[in-house]
Amino acid sequence: MEFLTQKYAQSLPERTWHALKKKINPPKPPARPEEGTILNHVIAIDGPAASGKSTVSRELAKRLGFAHVGTGTLYRALTWKLLDEKVDFSKPALVAERLKTMKIECGIEADTLVMRLDHIDPLPHVRDGEINEYVSAVAAIPAVRQSLLEKQRELLNHGPLVVEGRDIGTVVFPHTPFKFFIDADPEVRAARRAKDGEKDSVASRDAQDAARKAAPMMKAKDAIRIDTSTLSIDEVVETVLGFLEGKGLFENADAHAVKEAK
Ligand code: CDP
Repeated sequence: MEFLTQKYAQSLPERTWHALKKKINPPKPPARPEEGTILNHVIAIDGPAASGKSTVSRELAKRLGFAHVGTGTLYRALTWKLLDEKVDFSKPALVAERLKTMKIECGIEADTLVMRLDHIDPLPHVRDGEINEYVSAVAAIPAVRQSLLEKQRELLNHGPLVVEGRDIGTVVFPHTPFKFFIDADPEVRAARRAKDGEKDSVASRDAQDAARKAAPMMKAKDAIRIDTSTLSIDEVVETVLGFLEGKGLFENADAHAVKEAK
């Protein structure tokens, strides 16, 4: 596998935020990279449902010139596929059996996640009404998480990423120094989801996500918690950028590139 060059270093998008105007030093390949080793940055953003993390992550990725990956989409996509095929996901063994033959392809196009399940694009279906109801049950199945873990890490081969989910800082990219846990009061989150016009029991999904044995939703010890209850999206993005600057993303880019991808 070839060592990938850093596209964001080549053409930085216009930004308004003052500190971002500084030149970002691209991570350099090690002198003799091990075969298949890719160095890239990952900003890990975890948090409960409707905490604002998706909007914040997308905006952050745009400002940094990184690709955005919403990993919830992967779990939603598998949920759609299993529902579509009427696989009984109350029986984890049946799900594991089906996953053995399912071709799961993930990639990045136009700085965002693309996916195929047995050659079909599941993304048009991932916000279907019934997915919210079942996705946490599907995401709790160890075989499901196992089938997606390497796929997520391999996305880093495409370039630097802002990755949001529930276990990004704890399990998927534990070695990144850039970790955030975006939270908000439960009432605020329920109200936000209702405003989106989506039927979603945020509290019940959070409870399931936090209680499961396999990669439960939790704040990584070294993640920075940001409560967005009274903050605008822009304020949260600015806060995150401030922490990233403090952690040296813009000064010393080489030192923090992550080597999770195989
Ligand atoms: O957008 P919202 O916060 O409502 O949810 P999402 O990010 O699309 O995630 C949907 C569901 O996928 C979550 O409720 C979790 O059950 C699961 N998920 C997970 O288990 N691990 C992740 N890294 C991301 C999502």
